[in-house]
Amino acid sequence: MSNALKILVGTMTGTAQLVAQEVELTLDGEHLQVSSQPMDGLDSAVFAPGGLFLICTSTYGQGDVPDNARPLFLDLEARRPDLSGIRYGVIALGDKTYADTFCFGGKKFDALLASLGAKRIGEMMLHDASSGAMPEELAAPWSTAWIALAKAA
Ligand SMILES: Cc1cc2nc3c(=O)[nH]c(=O)nc-3n(C[C@H](O)[C@H](O)[C@H](O)COP(=O)(O)O)c2cc1C
Repeated sequence: MSNALKILVGTMTGTAQLVAQEVELTLDGEHLQVSSQPMDGLDSAVFAPGGLFLICTSTYGQGDVPDNARPLFLDLEARRPDLSGIRYGVIALGDKTYADTFCFGGKKFDALLASLGAKRIGEMMLHDASSGAMPEELAAPWSTAWIALAKAA
């Protein structure tokens, strides 16, 4: 597998950024180079062929991606690049108080990337802010299991 992982962060109030930092601390090492980057200003070109990506995003509005993720999301929708060489995972932050749109930010990215041919590794991590569990604490073990799946694939 590729020895680099890029985490793309969609956030409004910084929680997804904290989660991404935790994943970076957990996974970055000798055999894997991990970087994280806010989605601000990105477009489809970020998905370089052969890459491994982690989408780490919250949900706002009525099940929308955060504002800083919108340009990337809309560019992917408009250009519809062939992402069949891409593998990805999703950490979706949400709140079950919003029952009808729970974690839709991450779920929308998943559906869009899959429709462009990208291959998701493992199940999405869905975090419920109303559960009281800290998302970064869940993300560390989740990411360890996820990267093992990516290496095995
Ligand atoms: C105004 C507002 C709207 C939200 N809408 C949703 C939603 O539709 N679905 C959902 O699952 N979570 C929703 N959330 C919860 C956030 O996604 C959740 O708190 C997340 O952890 C915030 O992460 P961030 O700090 O990275 O933006 C909403 C939160 C706020 C403040």
